Amino acid sequence: MLKILPAKHISGELRIPGDKSISHRVLILSSFANGKSRFTGLSTGGDVRSTQRIMTQLGVEIKADVNKIQVTGVGNKGLIESATVLNCGNSGTSARLLSGVLAGQNFFSVLTGDQSLRKRPMGRIVDPLEKMGAKIFGRQQNSKLPLAIQGSKLRGIEYHSPIASAQVKTAILLAGLFAEGQTSVTEPALSRDHTERLFLWLNLPFKKEGLTSIVSSAEIPDFSLDIPGDFSSAAYFAALGALHNKSKLTLRYVNLNETRIGFLKILQRMGANIKIDYLTSEPEPVGDIIIKPGELKNTKIEKSEIPSMIDELPLLAVVGTQAHGRLHVTGAQELRFKESDRIKGIVSQLRKMGANIEELPDGFIVEGPTKLHGSFLRATGDHRIAMSLTVAGLLADKESTLTGESWVTISFPEFFEMIKQVVS
Ligand code: S3P
Repeated sequence: MLKILPAKHISGELRIPGDKSISHRVLILSSFANGKSRFTGLSTGGDVRSTQRIMTQLGVEIKADVNKIQVTGVGNKGLIESATVLNCGNSGTSARLLSGVLAGQNFFSVLTGDQSLRKRPMGRIVDPLEKMGAKIFGRQQNSKLPLAIQGSKLRGIEYHSPIASAQVKTAILLAGLFAEGQTSVTEPALSRDHTERLFLWLNLPFKKEGLTSIVSSAEIPDFSLDIPGDFSSAAYFAALGALHNKSKLTLRYVNLNETRIGFLKILQRMGANIKIDYLTSEPEPVGDIIIKPGELKNTKIEKSEIPSMIDELPLLAVVGTQAHGRLHVTGAQELRFKESDRIKGIVSQLRKMGANIEELPDGFIVEGPTKLHGSFLRATGDHRIAMSLTVAGLLADKESTLTGESWVTISFPEFFEMIKQVVS
């Protein structure tokens, strides 16, 4: 249980830890590369640890020395069968991406996860992988973990995904690296494109045509990368800086991939005082973000904007309580299938604080501004709800109490330390 006092000042400079999505992808790709790959800035969160542990169970040597990671790739055919179940913990990214990899190996695997992950939908990756020839069995008509995967020879398919999900897209593209012929995935709207950027940067046989990604089987070269800060972690500080009237924050070396920074664009559209300095662009755009207070006006979020801010929507609800007018979010039913039902979770907790927020089947409506009241808050087993409620607590009139705060370790173990550094 954590006590959160209203913040008086917010100021300072932070280097946000490495991006979670990129960290999963570089660990997986470097594991079957030909040679040693080296990274700095790998996410220290529990989810990335799950992927790291599983790659080790599959026979990959991963050495960690403070902030430096070295992965000795085993080549395209070098992964080995694990004698035990592969546990993805809370990480949907590990479960879905690794299903794609394991479907194309010549051995048997079982993937499972914690109580939350075992409730989350896996049919979305099982269906396309079965079309590629994969043999996968799981609970509830092969739609829930644990999944038993008998690796087999895969063939390329042309898949039209009904949902804009980077996890689905990446699972299929990773399977495509082990399949015969071309594999293509078309999505209804562009989801985060880290996999595609890495494929292009590594010169793999890959092309992107509009919303379609096409890959053929390939050997992976070893590579080195300094993983930029996670925008999804930076977002909590961007919100605090934009909403608190005594603030000045600089967030250094943050990933500014367009498919990830929808929340930053919305803050700007709402009138936030934000300056972006771009530093590098390969394989991902990276820069510094400088935030000062501003008067914010609520807005309507279009369905097409949702994928680029999917993980920041609970935080956006908090922002909406402090801005003028009506914040309208629809087309976000995916939030109900995350680590928890994030629509229900954020609406119920912000209501306790006195927010004027209404739950919709696929989103929420917030009328602002309202002074939030210090309350007893529950993070319902979800890291993003825990961090969003911390921001709400820092903006409230009186002390709040938060339970489930330790869930932040899933993506951002440094979160409360960094809050202490900038909040007084
Ligand atoms: C992720 C994709 C998103 C996101 C998750 C990480 C990824 O999920 O919510 O935190 O790394 O590919 P979906 O692809 O299911 O939307």
